[in-house]
Amino acid sequence: MIKLSKRLLAISELVEGGHKILDVGTDHGYLPIYLSQFESVRRIAASDISEGPLSRAKESALKYGVIDKIEFFLSDGLENCDNDFDTIVIAGMGGETMTEILSRATWTVSPDIKLVLQPQSKQETVFEYLCLSGFRVLDHRIINERGKYYLAISAVGDGEKRKYNGLYGFLGEQFFNKYTRTTAEYLLYLSEKQRKAIQNIETGSNGSLQLIKEFCLRLEDIEKIIKECKEHDKSI
Ligand SMILES: C[S@@+](CC[C@H](N)C(=O)[O-])C[C@H]1O[C@@H](n2cnc3c(N)ncnc32)[C@H](O)[C@@H]1O
Repeated sequence: MIKLSKRLLAISELVEGGHKILDVGTDHGYLPIYLSQFESVRRIAASDISEGPLSRAKESALKYGVIDKIEFFLSDGLENCDNDFDTIVIAGMGGETMTEILSRATWTVSPDIKLVLQPQSKQETVFEYLCLSGFRVLDHRIINERGKYYLAISAVGDGEKRKYNGLYGFLGEQFFNKYTRTTAEYLLYLSEKQRKAIQNIETGSNGSLQLIKEFCLRLEDIEKIIKECKEHDKSI
């Protein structure tokens, strides 16, 4: 059977419990190929906006002998897919594209549908969308693969819309409850990223006070999580 990368394996863990799964923006198709081996999976589908990636996914499914188990959709987001799924994965895509895909498919806000998301950039855009649309976080994974950090979350729509107040409110509990060395490293990486962003604005020619304020708030937010994580687990 196919061997997944650390990132995709972590994403597959968040999918656990899903019976009808759709992988949006599948590209190589590795995740649906891997998931197709499980008896509990009753339906598995892969979609992509482009013909190229979709045929790559089909070729891989053929190679691994699971072509008959997977459905393929050529689709911009969920546009050409039906809605008979209980788990929707969107991974390795920019946060803005991800948010756009989800906001065009409001049927995904449902207590019966789990989203598994791994935004590659602009995570906060996705998190804000999830809060404002009435999703709550179920679980998360932080992955360090070849020195690069990835954050994947699972969420479900309970219809209770909330204001997004930063990472602390959105994922704080998650980080406190499952505090590992990777969490600690990831939080340090995030805080360093904000510090560098602030420095770059200050030294750049078009420094903006508003932007600096925004990054400072994010930094404060992350430092608050770090402090509480340390209080929760003194061993790290
Ligand atoms: C970097 S790959 C990620 C592949 C895989 N999901 C992963 O995590 O390894 C991004 C894929 O998303 C597809 N994509 C981009 N925008 C899309 C959209 N609006 N709807 C569906 N697929 C899209 C691209 O064609 C590409 O194959």
